[in-house]
Amino acid sequence: MGGGASRLVDDLVAEGYTDLTVFDLSSIALAVAKQRWGEHVDIARWIEGDITRAKFPMNRFDIWHDRAVFHFLTDPANRHAYVERVISAVRPGGHVIVATFADDG
Ligand SMILES: C[S@@+](CC[C@H](N)C(=O)[O-])C[C@H]1O[C@@H](n2cnc3c(N)ncnc32)[C@H](O)[C@@H]1O
Repeated sequence: MGGGASRLVDDLVAEGYTDLTVFDLSSIALAVAKQRWGEHVDIARWIEGDITRAKFPMNRFDIWHDRAVFHFLTDPANRHAYVERVISAVRPGGHVIVATFADDG
């Protein structure tokens, strides 16, 4: 979630992970990441969208990873929308990893 231009997807591919989705609000950030992959761009699904409005199939993901996205949602309704999507899209027994900032650090 909010993978942006980060290299997490590159590292996951290098580790042998498959069935990867990179979702981000910014088409520019996604384009930067996709450009690195050239003709191998289909190593992941690249989806431009807003997490507060996104529609994912139920139980779609084994792992949800978010570094530095959730804290952008300062409106409680948007946070609620985010959590609803995580609960629905991550399969039971899956893992959710969220790294975020707070007022105190
Ligand atoms: C600080 S960057 C972090 C990027 C990457 N996760 C990393 O750690 O390098 C935040 C990312 O969240 C994305 N973002 C912000 N609001 C979003 C939203 N509502 N839905 C999806 N992505 C969002 C931004 O476009 C940006 O790529």
